[in-house]
Formats: sequence, C-alpha cells, structure tokens
Amino acid sequence: MADFKKLEAELLAAITAAEDDTRLETIRVAALGKKGSISELLKTLGTMTPEERKQEGPMINGLRDRVSEAITQKRDTLKRAATAERLVADKVDVTLPLRASALLRGHIHPVSQVIDEITAIFADMGFSIAEGPDIETDFYNFTALNFPAGHPAREMHDTFFFNPKPDGERKLLRTHTSPVQIRTMESVKPPIRVITPGRTYRCDSDQTHTPMFHQVEGLVIDKTSHLGHLKWILEEFCKAFFEVPSVKMRFRPSFFPFTEPSLEVDIQCDRRGGEIRFGEGNDWLEILGCGMVHPNVLRNCKLDPNEYQGFAWGMGIDRIAMLKYGMPDLRPFFEADVRWLEHYGFRPLDFPTLAGGLSE
Ligand code: DAH
Repeated sequence: MADFKKLEAELLAAITAAEDDTRLETIRVAALGKKGSISELLKTLGTMTPEERKQEGPMINGLRDRVSEAITQKRDTLKRAATAERLVADKVDVTLPLRASALLRGHIHPVSQVIDEITAIFADMGFSIAEGPDIETDFYNFTALNFPAGHPAREMHDTFFFNPKPDGERKLLRTHTSPVQIRTMESVKPPIRVITPGRTYRCDSDQTHTPMFHQVEGLVIDKTSHLGHLKWILEEFCKAFFEVPSVKMRFRPSFFPFTEPSLEVDIQCDRRGGEIRFGEGNDWLEILGCGMVHPNVLRNCKLDPNEYQGFAWGMGIDRIAMLKYGMPDLRPFFEADVRWLEHYGFRPLDFPTLAGGLSE
C-alpha cells in the first residue's frame, strides 16, 4: 500500500517535471505501456484471492486512472504553452507592402487587350464576331474578292504558299482577314454586321512588319447602308478606341479590288515631342482601308447587287496597338520576352468595357 503511494508520488512528480512531449511519452510508456510499472501491477490482480483483489483492485485502478489523467492534463498544458510560445514568436508586420500575387504577375498581351477593346466597342454598336481559317484557298483569299488571275494586286500581298497538291491546288496563309467577308456572306443572310479579328501572314519583316500580324475586318451588308454610315462608325470607333472626345479623320481615294469606291483613312494627330496625341495637331496617320463592297464580290457570294449593298474596312491591330500604347517596334510583340510583357502587358482581370473604361 505504501508502495502504491510512493509510486504514484514519483510518477506525478515526473509528469509535472516533464518539459516536453517526448519526455512525457517516455513516462507514459514506463507506467502504462505493456511492460509499464502500473500495467505490471494490474497483471498481479489475476493471481490474487478474491479478498485481496477486492482490497487492492480499487487502489491499483485508481492509481492508473489518476496517472492517466495527469498525463492527459500535462499534454494539454504543454500544447497550450507551445501555442502561446509560437504566437509570441510569429510576428506579422501588417505595415509591410503587399507581395504581388500570381494573379498580378501574369499579363495580357497588348494584342489580346486591343482585340478585347475593339470587340467591346463594336459589340456596343451591335456587331458580332466572325472567324475564318488561317489556311485559305486562293478562291477565298483572292478570286472571290475580285482579284482577277494574274492581277498585280495579288503580287503586292507577298503571299506564303503551301506546296501544290496533286490536283494543282495551292493553299496559302491568308494575307488579310477579307476572306472572312466571303465566308460570312456565303453563310449568313443579310442584314450582316460583323467584325473579324484574326491572324494574317505576309512574307515581310522589319521594324513595323512581321511575317505574322493581326487585322480586324468589318463588314456591313443590308439594303441601304452607305458611306455616311461607314464614316460615322469609324469616327465613333476611333474616339472610343483612342479614348479622346473628338477626332478628325481624312478619307482619301484609294484602290482595293473588293471595294468600289475604295478609300484610305488617316487620323489627325500631333507627333511633336516624340509622343503621338490624337484629336489634335497637324500630322496625319494612315490607320485603315475601306470602301463600298464591290458588286462583283456580292455576286460571288450569290447576293444580288441590285438588292443588297454595304461597306467593309480592314485595319492592322498591331499597328493601332503600337499607336495607342506607344510601342516603337513591332518585332518584340512576338518574341515572348517576359520583361517586355511585364512592361507593356495588361492586368488579367481588368477586362475592357465601355462602361468601366477600356484601358485603365
Ligand atoms: N484587306 C486589305 C489589306 O489587307 C485591307 C482592307 C481594305 C480591307 C479595304 C477592307 C477594305 O475590307 O474594304 O490591305
């Protein structure tokens, strides 16, 4: 009996003195483990007479319960002490500047940004988006657009041709987005109001030309659309895109096989001080080609020119991106240099809208 008291006092003292979990666990195993001191005592119950067991049983069981309870409590105390210690040690300086999250590190390429801006502006005017393949046939890229065989305008396009197929057909990389005009008129009944942004290809490379570049085509076909409408649409577009209250535009006569009359459009700007400002100044910058869709093109799409008419325009996306965002060289657009993208790119969640602002 005295032994139990002594054992209990020793164990409780050791438990109280244990300074960490490992030590506490050693004590637990030594007392309550398979060969622990208390477990050994419990085993002796089986060899006792009923009277002895009646007397000693409650004492041994009581000892076991009190020691287990003491261990549980000590474990709890140690845990709370560790948490308290960590709370004191782990300091957060809430005055530190924010570290850029992964979301802020990714950037939208200026070409994607400008396509989104153009889409937002024309969607607001009721246009939808049409797309066509990058690999085109001679028919869609030239013939249906009223480029006669052997016409010099074909040569001006510096076309990338594929090797001819056994039947002699030679596919090509589209040199402009105008073939999508044909594909649209073939498949959609007028009235038609579409824009078609996409990749285009010409064998050309210098500071302002790359073999792959981007254009956006516009096409409006119905029964009464005329050049006055075209002028208004382009003016509204330029004001919205360049984010200026007014722009001056100049329409010059030009030639494209698929429009008659054909025009080229310049926008007024100020280039003094190495920076381009729109809506003021004495300089003119060419930004697009346009015109009334040629009757032959309508006929090629099985539309009767006596019933339908309309206009189209084509614009270089990379070029207007360079103008708007002040990028002097086109080639880095396609070099995938992350430093360039970090400098000129846009935040992913700032999707351009007319209401929320195109480029802020
Ligand atoms: N496809 C022409 C080019 O790449 C641009 C163009 C001019 C498109 C006049 C048009 C247009 O739709 O009407 O040079």
